[in-house]
Amino acid sequence: MSASPLAALGLPGDLWLSQFARLVDQLPVALWSTDLNLRITAIRGGGSVVGEDGKTIEEAFGNPAQAAPAVAAHRAALRGESAAYETVYQGRAFSARVEPVVGPHGRIVGVVGFAFDVTERHDSQERLRAIIDSEPDCVKLLDAAGRLLEMNPAGLAMIEASSLDDVRGQPIISIIVPEHRTAFTDLQTRVFRGESGTLEFEIVGLKGRRKWLATQAVPFRDAAGNVQALLGITRDITDARRAEEQLRASRAALRSLATRQQDIREDERTRIAREIHDSLGQALTALKLQLSAAQEAASRESPALGTRLHETAVMVDDLVKSVRRIATELRPPILDQLGLPAALEWLAHDFSRRTGIRCEPTIVPANDAISTELATAVFRIVQEGLTNISRHAGASHVQIGLGVESQCVTLEISDDGHGITEAATTGPASLGILGMRERAAALGGVLEVAPRTGGGTRVTAWFPPLPASNGGQGGR
Ligand SMILES: Nc1ncnc2c1ncn2[C@@H]1O[C@H](COP(=O)(O)OP(=O)(O)OP(=O)(O)O)[C@@H](O)[C@H]1O
Ligand SMILES: [Mg+2]
Repeated sequence: MSASPLAALGLPGDLWLSQFARLVDQLPVALWSTDLNLRITAIRGGGSVVGEDGKTIEEAFGNPAQAAPAVAAHRAALRGESAAYETVYQGRAFSARVEPVVGPHGRIVGVVGFAFDVTERHDSQERLRAIIDSEPDCVKLLDAAGRLLEMNPAGLAMIEASSLDDVRGQPIISIIVPEHRTAFTDLQTRVFRGESGTLEFEIVGLKGRRKWLATQAVPFRDAAGNVQALLGITRDITDARRAEEQLRASRAALRSLATRQQDIREDERTRIAREIHDSLGQALTALKLQLSAAQEAASRESPALGTRLHETAVMVDDLVKSVRRIATELRPPILDQLGLPAALEWLAHDFSRRTGIRCEPTIVPANDAISTELATAVFRIVQEGLTNISRHAGASHVQIGLGVESQCVTLEISDDGHGITEAATTGPASLGILGMRERAAALGGVLEVAPRTGGGTRVTAWFPPLPASNGGQGGR
């Protein structure tokens, strides 16, 4: 070493060597050599290893379990292999590598090794592992072929596997129900292209239980940025799904109950209106005729009685008008006789007359685009809309538009009042608006109530086209 080329730098070889050794001692790296009996012949580096010279590798560790990987690697080096291992030495984690030392005649004469202190990396990995292991959701890594690389205990429980060894390397697709496999493979392809994605799918666990899972999948990249695996965080949403389905079913049941009740009420109203109009109307007309005859006869003999009978006949006239009004309010005959467009014209006219608010209907569709059910629903929606305007809006002008767009019937009622608040449209007390929405929903339509740009309120509704077989009935 005294002939070191570094002597050329102006330092005597021995001085250079001691300088170099001091430098090595300060590094967090240990360097050592052993003889054929694995006895340490020299050791330098990280302060903690000083004083191990002369001991065997096993003695230096003092703990046979911790020494075992080191001893096995050193023995492999004596056989001519280079070997790497991880171990714990004096409470710190090391990543080490050993090589054979080859003597002048090509014979192995010992081992050299070096070790890095990786305690911090090791600890942070351990912490991460502890977090992942205690995570209640499934955390998993899949390779590009969809095979399972890693899965935490929550995930193993989710797929009903007893240990990771039972499932590592298996294709995950086999537990996904056939109808969701394509979607899962698509997600996987996207993740390996560098995108993230979410998916809800169903599995059959290894013990046969069906479950709904929701997964969020992201690319897991190596240090060079290449996608190495799919990292998936998956949650069991079976209970939430079941609750959602129950909620949906009970909503549908409630909606059909409400629709049925509305139908019954509408039929009842029609029947009562007809009954009032026909029976009561006819009886009153007959009474009126009788009274006229009696009045004629009486006025000849007793003018006073004639006057009384005339007054009675006028009262009967009023009664006939009231009866007609009640029957019309219950169910306007115009709706059944002339159809929705005429009924809306009448409604708008009647509204203007009663409230003094100008009401302009613009009605496009002909009767044959409108079924009886749709006519009733739209009529009642407009009736409630107009009632709301007269009660709450403070408006002076109302427009009603009934149209057809791409075979769908559309309705719009807009006023120039002071507008509606968000709370009023969704509040629990808003039964009128709720009823309007439900009527639209019962026919597969959608109804919205919202403030109008520029002031006022706008009710818009949209109804899907009639099925061909059922269409074109017109008014009743
Ligand atoms: N055209 C409108 N302009 C301004 N506010 C309105 C209008 N229509 C409805 N509102 C507001 O929305 C609320 C809810 O209306 P909704 O018809 O659901 O109930 P309601 O009219 O108060 O009672 P009812 O159950 O008798 O209909 C009303 O109380 C009112 O404050
Ligand atoms: Mg109302």
